Amino acid sequence: MATDDKTQANQQWGGRFSESTDAFVQAFTASSDFDRRFYRQDIMGSRAHAKMLHKVGVLSESDLDAILGGLDDIEQEIANGEFVWSIALEDVHMNIEARLTEKIGDAGKRLHTGRSRNDQVATDIRLYMRDAISAIQAELDRLMRGMLTLASRHTQAIMPGFTHLQTAQPVTFGHHVMAWFEMMMRDAGRLRDCATRMDVMPLGAAALAGTSYPIDRQLTCELLQFASPAENSLDAVSDRDFSIEFCAAGAILMTHLSRISEELVLWSSAQFDFISLPDRFCTGSSIMPQKKNPDVPELVRGKTGRVNGHVISLLTLMKSQPLAYNKDNQEDKEPLFDTVDTLLGSLRAFADMMPAIEIKAQNMRDAAFKGFSTATDLADYLVRKGVAFRDAHEVVGKAVKLGVDTERDLSEIPLEELQAFSDKIGDDVFDFLTLEGSVASRNHLGGTAPSQVSLAIQRAYTRLDALQ
Ligand code: ARG
Repeated sequence: MATDDKTQANQQWGGRFSESTDAFVQAFTASSDFDRRFYRQDIMGSRAHAKMLHKVGVLSESDLDAILGGLDDIEQEIANGEFVWSIALEDVHMNIEARLTEKIGDAGKRLHTGRSRNDQVATDIRLYMRDAISAIQAELDRLMRGMLTLASRHTQAIMPGFTHLQTAQPVTFGHHVMAWFEMMMRDAGRLRDCATRMDVMPLGAAALAGTSYPIDRQLTCELLQFASPAENSLDAVSDRDFSIEFCAAGAILMTHLSRISEELVLWSSAQFDFISLPDRFCTGSSIMPQKKNPDVPELVRGKTGRVNGHVISLLTLMKSQPLAYNKDNQEDKEPLFDTVDTLLGSLRAFADMMPAIEIKAQNMRDAAFKGFSTATDLADYLVRKGVAFRDAHEVVGKAVKLGVDTERDLSEIPLEELQAFSDKIGDDVFDFLTLEGSVASRNHLGGTAPSQVSLAIQRAYTRLDALQ
């Protein structure tokens, strides 16, 4: 898009000033380079405001027609890249209004009646964020469905479950993926909550105190499809909670993607060798021919930092602001936009990649087998035979030591040798010492048994459908 950055006296407030704004200050205070991103929302807000002014008798029919026609043309000019943006006109609002007046004359000058850029910008960002959040929710939904596809393929596959990144107990791969799904469901809930709380309409607050015109805020609210008009004019123009809340929800979501990324990076290493990421999500090395690097998860893990930073930027931006609007607020947009872009990009990459992940089931199973992951099952078995848990813990500890010393898994130690540790051990013990027996025994809601994972997946589809 064209930009005309020549210094010029600002028409919007020229009357009060005896010299033009300093050229550097003009560029320094301008926001049109980034707030032009929500020009559609700005025009949408202006249409609603003009229709309302007409309805209450402040704007004539012919002025309204001229304004609506002019705004349609301007929207087209911007979309086609023909609009000339001017830094002297500071922001998206004044660029559009000046162009309107240039096109339709005096009617353009009447559009701003009963309105201020303060309630205008507060409205525009909310309209923009409404669309941004629903685009993010659509990608999140795609990712969650990808997780369900991956989990349903592998309800039976056994891998080591970890605590402290040490082999703990066997779990099914499907169960692990469903843990990721739960994180994403909470993120979807947080985004929905944020969208709901944001759904109030600031227009009518004007600069800060409201306006002396007989405006109909309910009408503007309906035209813009907000849930309700903001209750308090001072709060309406100064509130940026929704920006903070959105970035905070985004930071938690990115943190989840980062944790998943960390697992994908570890698991695709030669040392774990649990999964293979499709080549199209990886890159090679310019020097080491053998390398296939998991760039997508690494980059998503890295991008988490910027979103976490944006939360701090916004909190710091707001913390010392007295009511009502302050120019500081102009600084809310770039962190917000970058959070939207980062979430959309990261979710898109993950949604594409998730169902294409291939697992190396034998390697996973071998790893679970190596780590004495059924030790707890032997202890639980002894408890069921009447041994107190602490005593059972002791017995199993000795059996594990024997296994370590003689390089055998618990399930490979013959019955007589096990019985030396406790006479409560019978030959049914092997039903519980196998990996399959161990996971199958965790057969309750939320457990890792393959049958439970299948049920969890079924419920997950219903829960996802209910989110729509
Ligand atoms: N560009 C400004 C912003 O982003 C619009 C509101 C300006 N209002 C004002 N009184 N200077 O916050």
